[in-house]
Amino acid sequence: MRAAGRILCRTLNLAAAAIAPGVMTRELDVLCEREIRSAGAVPTFLGYQGYPAATCISVNDEVVHGIPSDRQLREGDICKIDLGVTLDGMVADAARTWPVGRIRPETGDLLRATEEALARGVAQCRAGRRVGDVGHAIQSWVEARGFSVVRALCGHGVGRELHEEPQVPNYGRAGRGVRLEAGMTLAVEPMVNIGRHDVRILDDGWTVVTRDGLPSAHFEHTILVTDEEAEVLTANGKG
Ligand code: MF3
Ligand code: CO
Repeated sequence: MRAAGRILCRTLNLAAAAIAPGVMTRELDVLCEREIRSAGAVPTFLGYQGYPAATCISVNDEVVHGIPSDRQLREGDICKIDLGVTLDGMVADAARTWPVGRIRPETGDLLRATEEALARGVAQCRAGRRVGDVGHAIQSWVEARGFSVVRALCGHGVGRELHEEPQVPNYGRAGRGVRLEAGMTLAVEPMVNIGRHDVRILDDGWTVVTRDGLPSAHFEHTILVTDEEAEVLTANGKG
């Protein structure tokens, strides 16, 4: 999973450098898939429950599971890429959100708040803490900034499969839920909306969008629980 995480991180860095007005989301998907395969790994999402691409690319009010297409990014958009990498049967899962050129200040606040919410959630991932501690840390940080956490989708265990036990909600009560143990690997993934938390699925059967049409941000890491600080397997600076 460490090795898968390194490939994943490098792939997201490559995609980040390519994001610009006029770029089609499908071009980003092709770039990512090529990078993953050239490392001898496999894009986990392709074919997962029939999903048709290597990446999920979701723009603006698209929360997650956007299907790469000929849609071109525009100045002022925010672009989310969510990516799974399988190497030798082990999975890493991560996502980031980037601004396309200059964005509205409030949207910039959303991106920073969501990335920090992820950091605060990950800081709770230690042996002896509970899943509710993670959700509570994320939710309280987000709501104190006037944003809302998506309830309909959760983080999750990850390892031999993309989605394993336990579920890791982005909301919850401190001290409640499954107890974390050293050696567990989790995908922590706050999805945060500027407006209300409600979402719906488009007719393509995949794309999750905010009901109020306002922007949403998503950051995700795969982490390893230890007795001390979690090891972030999809972070920059791990080679
Ligand atoms: N990345 C999503 C998650 O974090 C899973 C996407 S599966 C796909 O749980 F099939 F939609 F790609
Ligand atoms: Co995930």
